[in-house]
Order: sequence, then structure tokens, then C-alpha cells
Amino acid sequence: MAVDNRIYDRLGGSWWDEGNPLNMLHGSFTPGRFGYFRGVLERVGREPAGMRALDVGCGGGFMAEEFARLGCEVVGIDPSPVSIGTARQHAASGGLTIGYLVATGERLPLADESFELAYCCDVLEHVSSVEQVIKETARVLKPGGIYLFDTINRTPASKVLAIKAMQDWRLTRMVDTRLHCWEMFIKPAELEETLRRHSLRLDEITGLGPRANKLALLRNFTRARRGRLTYGELSRRMNVGRTTSTAISYMGYATKQP
Ligand SMILES: C[S@@+](CC[C@H](N)C(=O)[O-])C[C@H]1O[C@@H](n2cnc3c(N)ncnc32)[C@H](O)[C@@H]1O
Repeated sequence: MAVDNRIYDRLGGSWWDEGNPLNMLHGSFTPGRFGYFRGVLERVGREPAGMRALDVGCGGGFMAEEFARLGCEVVGIDPSPVSIGTARQHAASGGLTIGYLVATGERLPLADESFELAYCCDVLEHVSSVEQVIKETARVLKPGGIYLFDTINRTPASKVLAIKAMQDWRLTRMVDTRLHCWEMFIKPAELEETLRRHSLRLDEITGLGPRANKLALLRNFTRARRGRLTYGELSRRMNVGRTTSTAISYMGYATKQP
């Protein structure tokens, strides 16, 4: 089973265009995830300004720009050269300094223990080796460093939303390719075990998902499919954010142990 990661080269030239299906990750996903992550840093008493932060699988730079605006020194890596080109251009046009590199999470061209913060948003379900990506992330984190993440759970609910509605059903799908593969989704207990093997102590997991009415959600997917709603607007209407249920996606944080 494999996912079509080449989509990030085919569509990666216009991540920031609201009509691009990849822009769905921006509208309410970026504020939903970033709001939670900023809250985590506050709760654990870490001042983001001046922190070296690594964005593993940065795509077009949605989250990298948020952390850069908080004052972090951000390095973003992604295997898609097209996405990295877009991220570089967008940051430069907004006057932000972010270091972008073409690389995979499995093989980070970065020094040991060189980051205080690392984060990985909607990426672990796309990689060929979750074990190796976590191992590499742990290697570049300083002891006491914080790892923030979100990914998709492997449940019947995620099969309906992320597989059926988003890529299988003709009337609702946002892409005509295998963006996700249900078998590659990760259960929280599996992630916790992998983190533990690499000296990352899981501190918290919470749900992440759409808070909009489910029927309205499907109707809006249909509208977007027909070009009557942009993917940016679809995302805002999904009202993605923290949820009590982890049935679709979940986010959380871990701490690198000495
Ligand atoms: C769903 S997108 C998420 C992008 C970004 N993190 C965000 O939330 O806006 C998944 C990203 O993971 C990247 N990716 C795929 N395989 C990867 C790997 N082995 N290591 C790091 N990133 C990878 C893709 O190129 C793509 O940009």
C-alpha cells in the first residue's frame, strides 16, 4: 500500500491559492493546530521567541510561517522541491526569514541536538517509515526539547471522512488520487510506543477534527468538488480544532528525555 506523495509536486506550486485542494489544510486547520501548539508552549513555560524550531514535512509553509511570526528560528524540510520552492517564495514575499531544505524526515541533514522544538503536522501518515522519522526527529532535538504533532487515527470514522469522502466518493472527493491510505494511519497507542523507543515521552494527546455539522460537511465537500466553494472556504466551514474525540485525527506533544 502506498500513497501518492507526488501530488505535492503536481499541486505544490499553489499551496496558498484558496482554490487548490491542498489549501484545505490552511483555512481552519492551521489556526486549530497552531492555537493548541502555542497553548502547549505556554503551559510548559517555553518562550518561543529565539527557539530553533524544525518543521518536518512543511509543505507550502503554513505552520512554518506561524512559528516564524512567534519569533522562532524555523527550519522547514520537505521532500517535494516544488512545495519547498513555494514555501520559500511565500516567506520571502511576506518578509519572513525561514530556512527551507529539500529533505525527507527519514534522513535529516541536520546536526544532533540542534533544535529546542520540532513539529510534524499531517505528515506521519505519509511517510515510508514512521519509526525512522521519529528516530531522526528525536536525534536532532535537544534533551528537554518539545515535539508537537498531529496525525490521522486508524478508525472507522477516519475511513469514512479521510478515505471515502475525501478521495473515493465521486461527488465529494477533493482529489482523484490516493492522497491517504487507511492502513498507514496511526493509532495513538502505536505512536506512543514509537515515541518511547526514541526517548520521547508522550505528555498529552487530544482530538483534532471538524466541529461542523456532519451533513453540512458533506454538502460543502460536494460544493467544493463542483467548484462552488473554494477549498480555503471549505476548510473554514469545517471549523477544525480541538475535540474530545480522537476518532478522526489527534494532536499532542512529547518531551525528549535526557
Ligand atoms: C498533508 S501535507 C502537510 C504539510 C504541512 N505539514 C501542513 O500541515 O501544512 C504532507 C506533507 O508531507 C510531506 N512528506 C511526504 N513524505 C515525507 C517524508 N518522508 N518526510 C517528510 N515529509 C514528507 C509531503 O511532501 C507534504 O508536503
